[in-house]
Amino acid sequence: MGVIARYRQHLPVGPATPDVDLGEGSTPLVPSQNIGRALGLKHLYFKYEGLNPTGSFKDRGMVVAVARALEGGSRVLMCASTGNTSASMAAYAARTGLRAIVVVPSGEIALNKLSQALMYGAKVVALKGNFDFALQTVRELTSHHQVALMNSVNPDRIEGQKTAAFEIVDELGDAPDYLVLPVGNAGNITAYWKGFREYHAAGRVSRLPRMVGAQAEGAAPIVTGTPVTNPKTVASAIRIGNPASWEGATSARDESGGMIAAVTDTEILAAQIRLASSEGLFAEPASAAPLALLFRLVRDRKIERDSTTVVVLTGSGLKDPDAALKNVEPPIELDGDARTLAKVLKL
Ligand code: F0G
Repeated sequence: MGVIARYRQHLPVGPATPDVDLGEGSTPLVPSQNIGRALGLKHLYFKYEGLNPTGSFKDRGMVVAVARALEGGSRVLMCASTGNTSASMAAYAARTGLRAIVVVPSGEIALNKLSQALMYGAKVVALKGNFDFALQTVRELTSHHQVALMNSVNPDRIEGQKTAAFEIVDELGDAPDYLVLPVGNAGNITAYWKGFREYHAAGRVSRLPRMVGAQAEGAAPIVTGTPVTNPKTVASAIRIGNPASWEGATSARDESGGMIAAVTDTEILAAQIRLASSEGLFAEPASAAPLALLFRLVRDRKIERDSTTVVVLTGSGLKDPDAALKNVEPPIELDGDARTLAKVLKL
């Protein structure tokens, strides 16, 4: 069952809306086995969004936005992307027979994300410039042509993405104390906050979580309060200098009593390895940013030991292995038999 079928009554869909699901959503909320104990946090969970059909949380919003575009008679879909949005849009377009055009910042997106968009049959344009320029260009073009804009400025994307907040509550029985997630274009933090507030209004939760957003130091406009002209970070998914949902992010932060802070690339890559090697969860660099921030918050004693904390792992580590491989030992090259193998391994 996809998110439209599971949360139909909370979504802007009606009897005429086609269900175009790929079985997105219902991702595991994995309790920490080792990191929580090491940090002294009793209730630490990872929402493993990398298990969505195209490997990131984007599928939740995309299924709703594509269904609604189809219902409204659109034939051509377009987005700007740091990689995951384009992979997701291309997959749902393939499924529904719509044309997909994706615009990505040239040379700036992970190869595996690019290969997804190409394999799903999208027309891919690698535009010179950064993501912010790509989004600006796509917004301009779609305002003049019969082409549906599928970035998270499309409200149907936010509607679909809020289902992740519902799932967390449905599983925990209440909202967590802290929801920690990466912030790039800021649609996701906006969507989670909307989801928690809607469940609160419906009496499904007794409290609202503090929303804690992580940006990368070289791409931290919301932290510094000014757009970044030339954003830089190893976490290409959140290499964004002027987020479209800026205000959604600051509202979520301020209304929830949360925070948005920056972490360095070194902290991100260290958190990525620790997550993989001590929890068995391989997430892409952007998804490790919130864990890096959590490490710092625990060190600064800003999170209570008995609180319930959920870290959102937004995308699979398989999306961008190049970034990760720079930080692990390469395989042992061996030409030999079982005896030499045992010797090399010091068994
Ligand atoms: N994590 C991953 C893996 C992402 O791909 C993104 C955004 C984010 C976090 C940040 O989410 O933008 O809602 O604040 N990726 C977009 C894309 C920009 O084009 O795929 P956000």
